[in-house]
Amino acid sequence: MPFDNVTITDNRTNRTYTLPIEHGTVRSADFRNIRTDPADFGLMTYDPAFVNTASCRSSITYLDGERGILEYRGYPIETLAEHCSFLEVAYLLVFGELPDRTELQDWASEITRRTMLHENIRKFMEGFRYDAHPMGMLVSSVAALSTLYPDAKHVQDPANRLQQIKRLIAKIPTIAAMCYRHGVGFPYVFPDNDLSYTENFMNMLWKMAEPKYAANAVLARALEVLFILHADHEQNCSTNAMRSVGSSQADPYLSLSAAAAALSGPLHGGANEQVLRMLEEIGSKDRIPAYLDRVKSGEVKLMGFGHRVYKNYDPRAKIIKWTAEQVFRVTGRNPKLDIALELERIALEDEYFIERKLYPNVDFYSGIIYQAMGFKPEFFTVLFAIPRTAGWLAQWDEMHRDPEQKIARPRQIYTGERQRAFLAIEERQAIAAAKG
Ligand code: CMC
Repeated sequence: MPFDNVTITDNRTNRTYTLPIEHGTVRSADFRNIRTDPADFGLMTYDPAFVNTASCRSSITYLDGERGILEYRGYPIETLAEHCSFLEVAYLLVFGELPDRTELQDWASEITRRTMLHENIRKFMEGFRYDAHPMGMLVSSVAALSTLYPDAKHVQDPANRLQQIKRLIAKIPTIAAMCYRHGVGFPYVFPDNDLSYTENFMNMLWKMAEPKYAANAVLARALEVLFILHADHEQNCSTNAMRSVGSSQADPYLSLSAAAAALSGPLHGGANEQVLRMLEEIGSKDRIPAYLDRVKSGEVKLMGFGHRVYKNYDPRAKIIKWTAEQVFRVTGRNPKLDIALELERIALEDEYFIERKLYPNVDFYSGIIYQAMGFKPEFFTVLFAIPRTAGWLAQWDEMHRDPEQKIARPRQIYTGERQRAFLAIEERQAIAAAKG
């Protein structure tokens, strides 16, 4: 019978320590007992970029990167993408169970009646330049919501948290659509509460002079599937930002704006925009080998490839490939798909990518669909942020319920100077003058 602990010998003192193992994990704080003498601070663990550190317990998303498995609350992503609406999945993430019909109707109505934005936000939005990047607009506008809902600071009250969760899931498509309309110079469109979550979003994006917007059912469903695939992904960079900022008891609007800022980076959600720019740069299939040479020499990265956790095919990328085919039946085929498919084929046979277990991730194909639907690359990350809002909020709520969580505050290994002699500015100036 194996023991659930590990024995460590400190060769500095010849003492041994037995540390308990739970869920394949030892507690970093236990290392503090390993010290050379009572005055010693004790051992710390060093883990830049959190490559091997669990920051929380979570029951929201399960991810097995070696086997390419992704589950929300225990349900495989493939099943949810096939059978559910986005709001059904958002309910699952927030409450832990799939809703029955009545619960779903109530939830949808709670969300729908909160889709309007305060006029203040519209005026705020008008202040952006015509060519402002939509992610900058989204991040700032979500933060601005904090000024309209001062009640949101009561983050330790579960009922209050739920109220903000509903507001944010409801309002994020409205903000996103305003960012879009601002960019194309069209007046903002009010939400239409007769429509489903994705149909209403399409209405706010694309309604022109017609009295009632009619969404294309295939495109609305494709968007729903894409939203489900992007809804949560356990402790990634932006979710970590949400939890970290939220751990200081900042309100959820400010915390979520920090999470969205983290998402915007090209190594995270911003990768979908970069994939499209890369495919544009490659331009044709015959130029793929030369581009891959540049990747292998370290000059550029293959955007949309690789993942910290997946060392196998990202299951979301598989579903997205299938969704692309559905969308192209309506929009016509995006020729970039052929370049992407060939790029994937060549890369997956190449020793560089095989050795490093680099596979396409969610961002590799999503942009090709979004472009076929009529979105510009700079808007792609906004389309990631809308559904991820549900995941960020579920994770934020879970953090506040967890009695083990405190303000996130890592340690450091200090490598700078100590106790230096201070020189007055005249002396520093004299030294600089002497040096010429
Ligand atoms: N192109 C070329 N080489 C790569 C790539 C890539 N896309 N990704 C990783 N590598 C190499 C990397 O250079 C390293 O090589 P070596 O061992 O010779 O130094 C090796 O593979 C291991 O990579 P790493 O940098 O240690 O991996 P990481 O876990 O720190 O980074 C990543 C993960 C996603 C940031 C990275 O794979 C990457 O930059 N990918 C491109 C950007 C991208 O597609 N991001 C979206 C991620 S999925 C959705 C999301 O999170 O939003």
